[in-house]
Amino acid sequence: MRAMSRMSRHSVLWGVLVPATLIGGERPQLTLAANAPQEKDSELLKDARDTFEPLPKDMATREFPVSPERVSLGRKLFFDPRISVDGTVSCSRCHLSALYATDALPKSHGARDKMLPRNANTLFNTALQFKQHWRGDFENVEAQAKHALTGPGFGNPDFAAAMARVNAITGYPELFKKAFPDEADPVNADNWGKAIGAFERTLVTPSRFDEYLGGKADALTPAERNGLRVFMDIGCANCHSGVGIGGSKFRKFGVKEDYWKATGSKEIDKGRFDLTKDAADTYTFKVPGLRNVEMTAPYFHDGSVDALPGAVRVMARVQLGKTLSDEDTGAIITFLKSLTGKPPADFITAPVLPPAGFK
Ligand code: HEC
Ligand code: HEC
Repeated sequence: MRAMSRMSRHSVLWGVLVPATLIGGERPQLTLAANAPQEKDSELLKDARDTFEPLPKDMATREFPVSPERVSLGRKLFFDPRISVDGTVSCSRCHLSALYATDALPKSHGARDKMLPRNANTLFNTALQFKQHWRGDFENVEAQAKHALTGPGFGNPDFAAAMARVNAITGYPELFKKAFPDEADPVNADNWGKAIGAFERTLVTPSRFDEYLGGKADALTPAERNGLRVFMDIGCANCHSGVGIGGSKFRKFGVKEDYWKATGSKEIDKGRFDLTKDAADTYTFKVPGLRNVEMTAPYFHDGSVDALPGAVRVMARVQLGKTLSDEDTGAIITFLKSLTGKPPADFITAPVLPPAGFK
């Protein structure tokens, strides 16, 4: 609602009505991006600060601290394929260092080449989200990492089998002991989750947008600021808001029309409905965070859209019932690219892993 009233205010300020004949529409439409005189910086910055938040230094909480011992162990476990059922799958197989923690596939392949049901998200800034996975299956990154052990990615039959693999690598028990010094028997699936979670909680990627939110108005170019205005006024920020530019609520994918008609998806995923069996959750998914979205194609829960312009147009159409002009699409993408941060150094290089040992 707030975005709508802002839109009408700006339609007066910027008001450029394009004759219907030029754009082939039924009635004159407003192009937000075109000919917009530079908005007063302070007003845009204020609106942006009301809607978004800069990233914290790390994503630790009191319950889930990022002690150096936990982070160092978690980083090793993250890159170690030896814990999977066929010895080929580590977290880093689907969340690759070189691809902003994605695998660039529509859907990932796990152990014994089993296809996973959805597209692999990036892990950057992910621990800030209110839930993990497209449908919100997990409360936090720790629970997600624990359950990955027995999911189709790693393919272990149970936690005991997975932990036997960890214990067989003679270097690990000592590292678990260091990371969880108060525990008598620290090699367990909960601590596997906590150690990997601690590593994930360090994976923040601040961008120029964070500098902007910090008060440095010229950290974004005039074109990026214009894109930010379009993003907010068109209604994208109704769902994609907060510190992650998303990641804080569930929404139906396909508010205005069935999503698969716009994406061309072959299979229809009922989203959260399959978890809750509540009819109101049919086709609802977590609103994903849009930080680094430039780098994380293909898009949507099923990887059905290859490139960002297509994804932005699908969103405007199925979530807002709007057809975007090329200018507005371009403006939004210019803004989205300003959300790209630098991958953390500890993520782009892999650590040396403990030797297998002689057990
Ligand atoms: C075989 C590929 C594969 C492997 C291995 C894998 N992941 Fe993933 N990951 C995925 C896919 C696919 C999703 C999306 C799952 C869904 O929502 O259905 C995902 C989602 C996630 C998410 C949720 C992100 C979000 O935005 O909701 C986190 C966190 C995560 N993975 C961490 C890990 C960790 C940690 C490991 C290792 C313990 C791991 N993954 C191993 C493919 C993989
Ligand atoms: C009503 C809420 C809502 C609105 C409004 C909305 N989105 Fe989304 N957005 C979502 C949801 C939910 C998804 C996840 C859809 C899926 O794949 O299941 C999503 C996914 C995306 C993705 C794909 C991200 C990825 O990692 O695959 C992009 C890009 C995106 N939105 C951009 C936008 C833009 C740009 C706008 C404005 C034109 C917008 N969204 C408006 C809810 C919304």
